[in-house]
Amino acid sequence: MPFAHITGWGISVPEPVLTNEDVSKMVDTNDEWIRSHTGIHERHIARENEFTSTLAVEAAIKALQSANLAPTELDLIIVTSSSPEYIFPATACLVQDQIGATKAGAFDLSAACSGFIYATNMAAQAIRSGSIKNALVIGSETLSRFTNWKDRNTCILFGDGAGAFVLQASDKPGGLLSAVMHSDGSGADSLTLLGGGARYPATETTIHEGKHFIQMDGKAVFRFATRVMGQAIKESLDLAGLKLDDVQWIIPHQANYRIIETAAKLLKTPLEKFVINIERYGNTSTASIPIATVEAVEAGRVKPGDKIAFVGFGAGLTWGAMVVEWTGSIPAKKQVHPEQYRLFARLRSFVRRALRFIEGFFSRREL
Ligand code: UT7
Repeated sequence: MPFAHITGWGISVPEPVLTNEDVSKMVDTNDEWIRSHTGIHERHIARENEFTSTLAVEAAIKALQSANLAPTELDLIIVTSSSPEYIFPATACLVQDQIGATKAGAFDLSAACSGFIYATNMAAQAIRSGSIKNALVIGSETLSRFTNWKDRNTCILFGDGAGAFVLQASDKPGGLLSAVMHSDGSGADSLTLLGGGARYPATETTIHEGKHFIQMDGKAVFRFATRVMGQAIKESLDLAGLKLDDVQWIIPHQANYRIIETAAKLLKTPLEKFVINIERYGNTSTASIPIATVEAVEAGRVKPGDKIAFVGFGAGLTWGAMVVEWTGSIPAKKQVHPEQYRLFARLRSFVRRALRFIEGFFSRREL
């Protein structure tokens, strides 16, 4: 059975920064309160012309560059997002078209902030089964579009960004060692974005009622998160036949510094073992785990051979964890340039649209 290795990684974060000072000009809050209650100092916010797919594509190209893999070699693209570009088509299909992943299947996965764990596990299982060789998993968010900037309970928390992993099959042991996924829909009302779905399609009333904004019972989510994080890590370690001492790093979903601190206490593990960067990004939902990972890899903290426990939790309610042996870059025989495929992809997309138009024109004449 092949192993599923993480061989590429990349992130994309919009340039504009919104500090706590900036937020305190919008709602009744202040820098001190936000720092002490969440650990967040600032977050990045997408520009008007940046979308979930824009960030996803940039992160994907960087991940393919570090894996030295051409997009045409991809068999599968999974985009996980709490702020997908549309209900449909899937953001993954927009990415597939823009990066020129000509043979890849593409779909979106919705599991809120646990999405990156779920999606990486799904891609890894497809590789482990032997049905595919190369997969791209992306967590991408423009949650600022669904944030009520008049609600101090939520607007202090969220930020925009994207992160991606490339997973590849190899006979060499390593890569994803284990994963667990859980859900509890009885807590569905704790964290919601109700508007625009089939139950509350967009109407003047739904907009008036603010149903197109994130709504959250912060305390309930906090309690749930601290309860499940340690459990999920332990379950995943058990499955991998490892102990907490065997892992060099724990990379948690970055929702609140205090949640991570509490989890560390419950696990009786020093906070230094946790990769934390919430202070600069806020909660970027599905993107937070890959953004934290890529920063730690690029800073030389995470090294090939390190064992890492990843843990996520979020709306649904959903939660999950996975244990990975970090592979790092695979030495390349020949350099590929995934970014160059974008031009080809644009041309291909244009030609396919034109052909579809011509096909439509002649089939109308035949009728
Ligand atoms: O990906 C998962 C997504 N969500 C989460 O992980 C959220 C988890 N929950 C949390 O992070 C925390 O519950 C929050 C950061 C949302 C809130 O922190 P808290 O310590 O639970 O605050 P609280 O809601 O209990 O509010 C404490 C006080 C209240 O005032 P009183 O009633 O004690 O006078 C609030 O009105 O702080 C007040 N407050 C604020 N004050 C200044 C609430 N929000 C703010 C604010 N600025 N932004």
